[in-house]
Amino acid sequence: MKITGRTKILGIFGYPVSHTLSPLMHNTALEANGLDMVYLPFEVSPDSIQAAAAGIKAINLSGVNITIPLKEMVMPFLDEVTDEARLIGAVNTVVNCSGKLIGYNTDGCGYTASLKRELGFNAKEKNLVILGAGGAARAIIAALAKEGAKNIVVANRTLQKAVSLAYEFKRYFPNLDISASNMDKGDLIKHLPKANLIVNTTSLGMDGRGEPEIPFEVVSKRHAIISDIVYKPLQTPFLKKAEWYKIKTHNGLGMLVEQGAVSFKLWTGTDMPKEIIYKTLKGYLGKG
Ligand code: ATR
Repeated sequence: MKITGRTKILGIFGYPVSHTLSPLMHNTALEANGLDMVYLPFEVSPDSIQAAAAGIKAINLSGVNITIPLKEMVMPFLDEVTDEARLIGAVNTVVNCSGKLIGYNTDGCGYTASLKRELGFNAKEKNLVILGAGGAARAIIAALAKEGAKNIVVANRTLQKAVSLAYEFKRYFPNLDISASNMDKGDLIKHLPKANLIVNTTSLGMDGRGEPEIPFEVVSKRHAIISDIVYKPLQTPFLKKAEWYKIKTHNGLGMLVEQGAVSFKLWTGTDMPKEIIYKTLKGYLGKG
């Protein structure tokens, strides 16, 4: 990679930021597309987010990704935020548009794009169960609701968080049948048999530790997909168990690549070379 006086700079703000696969993904794509741009990691502590956001303009970065724990905190320091990002309550992508900072959230549409690409799944008229009610759940629910989901049950350890989320999204999507549940097997058993998609958005399963405990035996082998947004490991304990029950599975790699592809297009106006990226990341994650 040749850095010149004209090289444009993209990056990611996170705290910590060392775990991120985004520099590998975007630099591979920038190089493959022959673009004179580079993507760098920036460790930004929550105390410095205002200064860092101002810094995007000050040093003329072309755009950045925002990751944990800064996705919500960055919002007041942007000039514009899309309606979708506002509903989700988080921004994962900032575009520096001639000195104006515009915030997007590409996580949700990345997730639905991945389901479409890998399994041909479209949420229209479908019944969905989302495990978790945090930031990732909000992004995914927004995208699935936009696609026309019929029914969404949000199941969370802290029931009140799921209740508030369901209330808020019902106001935004009046035609959507959305309700809250706790994570007890006894309650889940009422919702799982008709589910077409069950998504783990909780942090259970990260680094291979823990899994949501659901009654797999009532999930339809013919009509359901079990999905996990965790990509490290690619096959989480939750997905392993689903496979044991012969239920179709979907891992978190696709969401990582597809949200990246949407951001990449916003910054560069070019398409991410997805085949190369999937291969690179699969290789890195040890399943190449
Ligand atoms: P993210 O932005 O990745 O979604 P988050 O907003 O902190 O992260 O949300 C984490 C989600 O994982 C929440 O739904 C959380 O449940 P609570 O609202 O009850 O905290 C869920 N979660 C985290 N650890 C969990 C655990 N050990 N068991 C069940 N759910 C868990």
